[in-house]
Formats: sequence, C-alpha cells, structure tokens
Amino acid sequence: GFLCVTCTAPVNIAVIKYWGKRNEKLILPTNSSLSVTLGQDELRAKTSVAVSSDFNEDKMWLNGKEQSIENPRIQNVLKEVRRRARKRLSDSENEADLLLKHVHIVSENNFPTAAGLASSAAGYACLVYSLAKLYGVQGEISDIARQGSGSACRSIYGGYVAWQKGKADDGTDSYAVQIAPETHWPEMRALILVVSDQKKDVGSTEGMQTTISTSELMQQRVQGIDKKMKLMTQAIKEKDFPTFAKLTMQDSNQFHAVCLDTYPPVFYMTDVSRQIIQLVHSINDSTGHIKVAYTFDAGPNACLYLLEKDVPLVVSVVQHYFPLSTMHITGPAVSEYTLTS
Ligand code: DP6
Repeated sequence: GFLCVTCTAPVNIAVIKYWGKRNEKLILPTNSSLSVTLGQDELRAKTSVAVSSDFNEDKMWLNGKEQSIENPRIQNVLKEVRRRARKRLSDSENEADLLLKHVHIVSENNFPTAAGLASSAAGYACLVYSLAKLYGVQGEISDIARQGSGSACRSIYGGYVAWQKGKADDGTDSYAVQIAPETHWPEMRALILVVSDQKKDVGSTEGMQTTISTSELMQQRVQGIDKKMKLMTQAIKEKDFPTFAKLTMQDSNQFHAVCLDTYPPVFYMTDVSRQIIQLVHSINDSTGHIKVAYTFDAGPNACLYLLEKDVPLVVSVVQHYFPLSTMHITGPAVSEYTLTS
C-alpha cells in the first residue's frame, strides 16, 4: 500500500524574539517569545510525507534536492512522532504495520531558505503536522515542532502565539499557546520587505550559541523578558497598536544589540535595514502617532507591522524610498493545513 499526506504551513514573525537555548538537544529556550502567524498566500512551506512497502529506506528532499535524512533535527522529529504513534497504535495490528514502513519526505518553500525569513519555522511546523496526520498522532504537537527548530513551535497555531519557555528539564512544559486567534485583531497587517535573499552568514543556531557564551547584555535581556511578555500580551488583548508597535521595535533593537555584544559580533542588519528603521521612525514622528513598527530576525529583511488603514500610506512611502525591494503584504492567519491522501 501507499499512503501520502500533503500539508502547507505558514511562517511566523516574532515581536518578542527567541534567542538562546538552555538545552541545545531538546531546543529549550532561555526566554519566552511571542509572534504573529502570517497568511499563507505569500510565504509558506509545503510538505508531502508518504509511506509505502516499496520504500527501502527513509529519504528526504528539500526544494527538489535530496538531503541527508540523518540530520539530527529531522531524526528527533521522526523518532518522536513514531514513538507517540507506537504508543497509540500498540493494540491495532493493522495500523502498527505503518510504523514498519519507510517514509519519504518532500518539502518546499515558496520563498528563500535561510535568509532570515522564518523558513525553518514553516518547514518544521509543516513536517511535524504532516507526520502527525500520517501517523494519527493527536494532541499537542508544538513541542515536537520545537525539536526541529525552536521558532517552528509557534507556527503550529494561527493568530497571536506565545512560546512559553517552561521550567522542566525534559521540556514537557515548553510549547506554544495561542494568545488570540487571527479574528481577534484582523486589521493587523505585516509588510515583508525583502532586502536580500542571500543565505545568512551566521545561522541562528550558531549565533545564539555564541551569544549565550559571550554576551553579558544577554543576561539583562533575559531578566526583562517576562515583563515584556505580559505587556505585549495585554497590548494584543486590548488591540493597543501604539504599545504593540513600540514593544516590537524595542525588542528587535535589543535583540540586535545583543548580537553586537556577542563576541565576535554578529551583524544581521545592513545599511538598508537601518535606513528602513529611520524611515519608520520618520513616518511615526511626522504623523504624531505610532502607525508602523519594524522587526528584524537573523537577517537584513524587514517585517513591518501596521494596521490595514495605514497600508496605502506606508506602502507608498516605502516604494518611494526603496523602489527595488520586493514586498509581501499579509495579515494574521490560521495554520491552514490542507490534506490530500
Ligand atoms: C531571530 O528557530 O531558527 O528568528 O531553534 O536553532 O532552529 P533554532 O533557531 P530558530 O531561531 C529563530 C530566531 C529568530 C527569533 C524568533 O523567531 O523568535
């Protein structure tokens, strides 16, 4: 027999950044984080997983190229899904047969990989979701996605999502929680400005490792995070855009300051990124209201958060100053997963 499941999963862009691990193997973070899951029309991952008695080994392709299935993160995810499936299927002979078969994984992004556009988040969320469907694993799965890539756990849910850092050594309390669904604040828009689609020089995994071992500023950041999480959650619940925006910009700036305090320093933003920051501040200053916020991940590309009513203004100003940058406009969304078997 042959069984195949195909899913798509969205990216998420953090407004309170995850940066630093307290456990590398289980991917447990040093601080909680919060993000918005974005619409799938523009940026998404798509994954098909299939099992067949004709396959004689597990295999994987990413964007058309075969990848080693021995990748430890892929292995962690596969093992965990199979372990949970085994538990559930132990008494049904027929279905347990599924676990003896090999799996083929085919995954693609419709946007650049590893350019700091949350491709690993969408990719692992999608892989875990598809595998869970294939093997009939139910219940919480964001903790499995977390073991593929930390930020991936937040893409399992739509809308506004927090990843609680948790306290337990085994990671059982480190998973994602939806703070508000996408329908709660549907006027929210994200404008992604692609400054570069080059692969970043220092991957986030490596960058955060160096930060943890060298940055003193990082300790200060960690101490202030719980308070910021509370304020951000409240701003989202009350739909208080100026507070949401200010906290977002300040957290992005603090994250990049921590990168600069890392030794040797890590630079993710470029001159163009900094020009975008200045432009956003001048839009906000000239109108006398905070209308737009910027945030940057581990790369030079900007994500601007704004409300629908301000899209025409912001888009025209951005187009005027950065005529060459590619733009994606999208809003908060649910993790829409499509299944075909
Ligand atoms: C700057 O989730 O890519 O985007 O857990 O090592 O796979 P690993 O790291 P990853 O890091 C994302 C860092 C960030 C901030 C964020 O998304 O919260």
